[in-house]
Amino acid sequence: MSRVYNFSAGPAVLPEAVLQEAADEMLDYRGCGMSVNEMSHRSQMFQDIIDEAEADLRDLMGIPSNYKVLFLQGGAHQQFAAIPLNLCKLPGASGKADYINTGMWSKKALAEAKRFIDAQEIATSADKTFSYIPDCSDLPVREDADYVYICENNTIYGTVYHELPNTKGKILVSDVSSMFLSQPVDVSKYGVIYGGVQKNVGPAGLAIVVVREDLIPEDDLADVPIMMQWRPQVNANSLYNTPNCWSIYMCGKVFKWLKSQGGLEGIYQHNLAKAQVLYDYLDASELFKGTVRKEDRSLMNVPFVTGDTDLDALFVKESKAAGLENLKGHRSVGGMRASIYNAMPIEGVEALVAFMKDFEAKH
Ligand SMILES: Cc1ncc(COP(=O)(O)O)c(C=O)c1O
Repeated sequence: MSRVYNFSAGPAVLPEAVLQEAADEMLDYRGCGMSVNEMSHRSQMFQDIIDEAEADLRDLMGIPSNYKVLFLQGGAHQQFAAIPLNLCKLPGASGKADYINTGMWSKKALAEAKRFIDAQEIATSADKTFSYIPDCSDLPVREDADYVYICENNTIYGTVYHELPNTKGKILVSDVSSMFLSQPVDVSKYGVIYGGVQKNVGPAGLAIVVVREDLIPEDDLADVPIMMQWRPQVNANSLYNTPNCWSIYMCGKVFKWLKSQGGLEGIYQHNLAKAQVLYDYLDASELFKGTVRKEDRSLMNVPFVTGDTDLDALFVKESKAAGLENLKGHRSVGGMRASIYNAMPIEGVEALVAFMKDFEAKH
């Protein structure tokens, strides 16, 4: 068996120890004679898996007791619709929401919200190809906006908010798909914090939504499809219908792995050290350039270019041959991107930098 260093933006690298444990349990989960893939989601065994996963996640993120945790299907995209459909149905809601546009995922979330509510863009970094985070200290947040929305880590462009926006008292909703569990977080600053798990947490097919209790509509929303409503899932502890049992099980294992790494503070230190290896080299290189304003750089997604598209293509080809996979930038921006999520070992980043140095010496 030989494993590559996988720099994919998602689905992405998972901790090897977790994959090994899952492999060991594949045919016979803890003596029950079947795989988790074959188990009823109504069984006590699965109930224990989901309960433990939620408890570990609450512990890791320090989720206050007035927040609910939902394990849902439909990915982050489903929440692009569910967020306005739920939050703008609360008693007294105006049906207005303000979005900060820092790239493709906030743009798509805004476009989806516009299908249902009066959603508008109040800041953007589109003028410089989303290579920075706009100043969010004094935004034109509407007096009666129901919420302010951000995509906190921009997977494609490699930017991250180092400071949360001043929402002027409005509820903050954040898509953290590509930075989930990568650093300590103060959940109480958010009304909703959510993401698809397939980047930093587990296998594709699951979104985790952490939502403050008072932001979940109480009643059945007659004009909103059941699967878009948070309340039925809250009442059923994420088991309103058959969930993605496998992904929940795998995420539970990743939560335990994160605890063994010193929790979110421990993994954050690891992520800082890894990113520094790559950014230090990018800053010193004559050939490669990072594309993001320094103060807004992501610890998770690192885009870079040579400035020559043919050379970029050669780099992607040769790096793949050297066992460094998925370094091609997103199809919308080109160049290269290294996603260095929690499970990427520092050795992987060191191997990438060694390869880049060698490539630079030759070209
Ligand atoms: C930040 C961010 N938000 C949302 C999405 C879309 O997620 P999903 O495919 O789970 O709908 C992605 C990437 O896939 C992403 O990187």
